[in-house]
Amino acid sequence: MKENTVPFFKLFLSFFPFTWFLNIIHDRFRKGKINFENTLELLSKFDIPYDYVHVKHIFKASDSLKAGTITLEDFRGIYRTIVHRGEIQELFKAHAPNHRTLPVPHLVEFLRNEQFQPEANETTASQLIAKFEPIEEAKRNAQMTLEGFLRYMTSDDCAIFKTEHRIVYQDMTRPLSEYFISTSHNTYLLSDQLIGPSHLWGYASALMKGCRCLEIDCWDGPSNDPVVYHGHTLTSKISFKTVIQVINKYAFLVSDYPLVLSLENHCSPKQQEVIADYLINILGDKLVVSTIDDMVPNELPSPEALKFKIMIKNKKLGTLEETLERRGTDSHGQTGEFEEEETSDEEKDENPAQSKLPLLKKRRTHWKGSIPPRKKQKMKKIKIALALSELVIYTKARKFVSFEDSRENQHFFEINSIGELKARKLAKLAATEFVQHTVRFITRIYPKGTRTNSSNYNPQEFWNVGCQMVALNFQTAGVQMDLQNGKFLDNGGSGYVLKPEYLRNANTKFNPYVLSANQHPVILTIKLISGHQLPPSSLSRSNKADPVVIVEIYGVPDDQTKQQSYVVKGNALSPRWNETFTFNIQVPELALVRFVVEDQLSLTSNDFLGQYTLPLLSMNKGYRKVPLFSKLGVNLHPASLFVHIWYFTQ
Ligand SMILES: *[C@@H]1O[C@H](CO)[C@@H](O)[C@H](O)[C@H]1NC(C)=O
Ligand SMILES: *[C@@H]1O[C@H](CO)[C@@H](O)[C@H](O)[C@H]1NC(C)=O
Ligand SMILES: *[C@@H]1O[C@H](CO)[C@@H](O)[C@H](O)[C@H]1NC(C)=O
Repeated sequence: MKENTVPFFKLFLSFFPFTWFLNIIHDRFRKGKINFENTLELLSKFDIPYDYVHVKHIFKASDSLKAGTITLEDFRGIYRTIVHRGEIQELFKAHAPNHRTLPVPHLVEFLRNEQFQPEANETTASQLIAKFEPIEEAKRNAQMTLEGFLRYMTSDDCAIFKTEHRIVYQDMTRPLSEYFISTSHNTYLLSDQLIGPSHLWGYASALMKGCRCLEIDCWDGPSNDPVVYHGHTLTSKISFKTVIQVINKYAFLVSDYPLVLSLENHCSPKQQEVIADYLINILGDKLVVSTIDDMVPNELPSPEALKFKIMIKNKKLGTLEETLERRGTDSHGQTGEFEEEETSDEEKDENPAQSKLPLLKKRRTHWKGSIPPRKKQKMKKIKIALALSELVIYTKARKFVSFEDSRENQHFFEINSIGELKARKLAKLAATEFVQHTVRFITRIYPKGTRTNSSNYNPQEFWNVGCQMVALNFQTAGVQMDLQNGKFLDNGGSGYVLKPEYLRNANTKFNPYVLSANQHPVILTIKLISGHQLPPSSLSRSNKADPVVIVEIYGVPDDQTKQQSYVVKGNALSPRWNETFTFNIQVPELALVRFVVEDQLSLTSNDFLGQYTLPLLSMNKGYRKVPLFSKLGVNLHPASLFVHIWYFTQ
């Protein structure tokens, strides 16, 4: 250690704000002062992510003469304000011998003891130094200076979301029904003009978010060419063919795993045949038209077995066996018909008056002078073209009657769609039965018909009972979509997340409302240390805000809670909280953690600044950066929170 003292001291003299710093800024200041643009350029040269509004305000404050230029000393001040974060300096000093540099062995110790990375060794530490240390001399000596440490701690390498969960890491060879599947409802956007008609971009955009089940509303169009639009909205009509072409192009850009097209089919058998032809001709080999090996299996295949495949969910005539027996024969011109109760799963059954079709029926019934339709079990005829029916293999739509009916009569390749209100009732009244149902069958939940403004319900309550496809309006931002995006960050953003064992096991007794003793609860401790370059309030003309952080837990009802920090007055640049929150979480596998940052405008109203949501078990332990996203899901980098995370199983 003694011999090291001299080089350490030399090094200390040689780094900030001396040689390294001067080398970079020398050119700029040769002519004296620099302006704002040069300041931004210099910060970029130092690899410093900055927020324009914050730097602008600090620059203005430094420019005391209002000349639009600053001196070297002023720039040093800006650099320190933006980069030299007190909380990270404290951490560095606590781990660096002589408070100056972190040699490799000390960095390894820091990673193991503070960052909970037991596998960290000399190689890991050297790689970090090579990646983050800007001062050449320190790099050569295998040491990390404060400059390197600051860059490391604020990088994605220190992000709260586990690196190992950013790729597909779960077992993908289980039957499809064992996964939560990212699902969208009525996929369209009203205002986006990027690739033409708004809802075309809606499909592409949902696929780019990892969505693996899209809903397509098909209607008879002119010239025997089916069209897509949403019956009770103002969206324009586009041809079914174009929709399938767009889906074909975007289907596997983000995820390799299978895509389900859920057809909400209002077409005549004649146009259903056209639909079948488009699907076959445009999707080609991607389309699932038979079972694997042409044999009838007794359970659903896995996402792995169906990589790069597209499946059609629609009503179907008869069984899978019959389809396989008919293989090779031409099914054009043949149709089948069956009767179903009026409140079919695709009508918005909770409030018939809200959708057009039941409204017409209602009038007619009234005209006949019969009893109101809500009381009467009206039957309607459904006509299906055999050509389309034959394309439905693993995802046959089946009307949900009751859990008992499903237990006795439902096939493994049949999917139920249940409206939000009915599903909520079932979850409350018969949660365990619901769970046992979703262990066997893929279950899709869709929003109630009164959500004509495309608002969303909380998906968590249906994930809690194992529902695989909990369909949300992807175009409607808000806490529900934050939960959706957060949940499906897991497993590489592939759109498939393996359900916990108690939602997959045929003998499960799991009930999210009445927890049994065999859970493995987790104690979670979050120390909220600081915020960094938070977006100033949209209502503020300065770079200030009165930030407050709310940590929310979503999960089973017992775990649902939130805790709030105190308000830091007038500081969006570097608020400091030092506040610790502790949560006792009964069902950690289902828990999501949402960090929300708000600006307290008054005692009764807050302005949303940013949020981040992720699965509890995808959180890294130790000192971590929490990125922040806007309401619309835009990354607000470099805005972030700095936290210390710790959790353990009781
Ligand atoms: C550090 O661990 C990695 C595997 O995690 C291993 O490949 C490497 O050889 C180890 N390095 C040292 C110096 O032990
Ligand atoms: C949508 O309508 C629901 C009531 O049906 C209402 O509570 C909600 O605030 C509305 N959302 C928007 C974005 O208008
Ligand atoms: C937070 O803690 C640090 C030391 O750990 C202290 O220097 C700082 O003043 C504290 N800040 C607040 C706002 O409590």
